[in-house]
Amino acid sequence: MEMGAFAAIVVFCGLMPLAFGVPPTWKQPEQVHLSYAGVPGSMVVTWTTFSEADSVVEYSIWAGKLFELTAKGQATLFMDGGSEKRKLFIHRVTLTDLKPAVSYVYHCGSDSGWSDIFYFTALKEGVGWSPRFALFGDLGNDNPQSLARLQKDTQIRMYDAILHIGDFAYDMEEDNARIGDQFMRQVESIAAYVPYMTCPGNHENAYNFSNYRNRFSMPGNTESLWYSWNIGPVHIISFSTEVYFFIKSGLDLLFKQYEWLQKDLEEANRPENRAQRPWIITMGHRPMYCSNADKDDCTQFNSHVRTGLNDTDPPAPGLEDLFYRYGVDLEVWAHEHSYERLWPVYNYTVFNGSRNEPYVNPKAPVHIITGSAGCRERIDPFVPDPRPWSAFRSVDYGYARMQVFNYSHLYLEQVSDDQYGKVIDSMWLVKDQHGPEAWL
Ligand SMILES: [Fe+2]
Repeated sequence: MEMGAFAAIVVFCGLMPLAFGVPPTWKQPEQVHLSYAGVPGSMVVTWTTFSEADSVVEYSIWAGKLFELTAKGQATLFMDGGSEKRKLFIHRVTLTDLKPAVSYVYHCGSDSGWSDIFYFTALKEGVGWSPRFALFGDLGNDNPQSLARLQKDTQIRMYDAILHIGDFAYDMEEDNARIGDQFMRQVESIAAYVPYMTCPGNHENAYNFSNYRNRFSMPGNTESLWYSWNIGPVHIISFSTEVYFFIKSGLDLLFKQYEWLQKDLEEANRPENRAQRPWIITMGHRPMYCSNADKDDCTQFNSHVRTGLNDTDPPAPGLEDLFYRYGVDLEVWAHEHSYERLWPVYNYTVFNGSRNEPYVNPKAPVHIITGSAGCRERIDPFVPDPRPWSAFRSVDYGYARMQVFNYSHLYLEQVSDDQYGKVIDSMWLVKDQHGPEAWL
């Protein structure tokens, strides 16, 4: 064929969809990620297509007959708030009756397009096992330094779940939410293999947190804003610190969440529940305490998250008293792009278990800030002198690992990516007793 004619055909074909006013269809699944639905034996698979398509997961036990099981779900239309009003179809399928500790392979999509094949191991059941976690916050598209290491950890099955403590992508809504798409593609490398549990951060605030609310599928009915779940001997409470900061449209969410937190903590503290799941761990994005040199909320004595808002009508309660009152064992945070381990602390006072063993039977909750996974905003430096409640600090990029061994023992360590995976800090939190009585 003559070059001219060939070029004409190429141009014509390229314009065809536009000429007929039909956008190209895009039913290929992408951005696959898992979350735990909060019900034993379940797992939620979430993914995105850019055209309407069915929501199907085909799966099977590892090494079994491939794709012999099928589960169906639904897609919701998410229209981004940017000028292009881009449309995403977010598909959700809940797998049920999974066998504990059994590995499955799956792909998702529909007959119009299937994803790659992924695998996961269903969570163990009951309370007599020792779940392992990766924890971090503030992971972006640009400079996601810890991601490759997290990926390898995940591939060698180091974790039962990953906790992303707010701030994703930087920022998901940018470039008409293409940055969000790109981020979800990047974290597919870990999130399609283990439950990827989240809470919102300040970087998700655009269009009323719509990218966050739409893209994730956490338990409960709050569009992933706050929820709790159980894993082994642990009750994990995820919540939004952002209700203390984005209050232009009112304090509704703040009070709703506070009420829910109170109820959830009450329930988790019923003697029969706490006996089963002694560990209560909270995750929220912005810390109550930090010793960074950036004038953030956590550097203020009366941080909003810690003591609430006094200039609103009515005043809004903070969270330190609440968490102390219900005997929360460990509070994990991010937002500061650094790592900081605190001594057991309440009301700016250190309550170590003893001089030699500060984390053995501490008399107050322990706080960990791990927000240095890597993002375009780089690292947040510290003030030169650590505060009296600050036990260890690092500005290396990295993330934390945690394993809750049993009723009494929890292990947590911080990995430095700058130092090629070296563990730069570790802590054994040991408790013979849980709940508010443990403070006495
Ligand atoms: Fe943040």
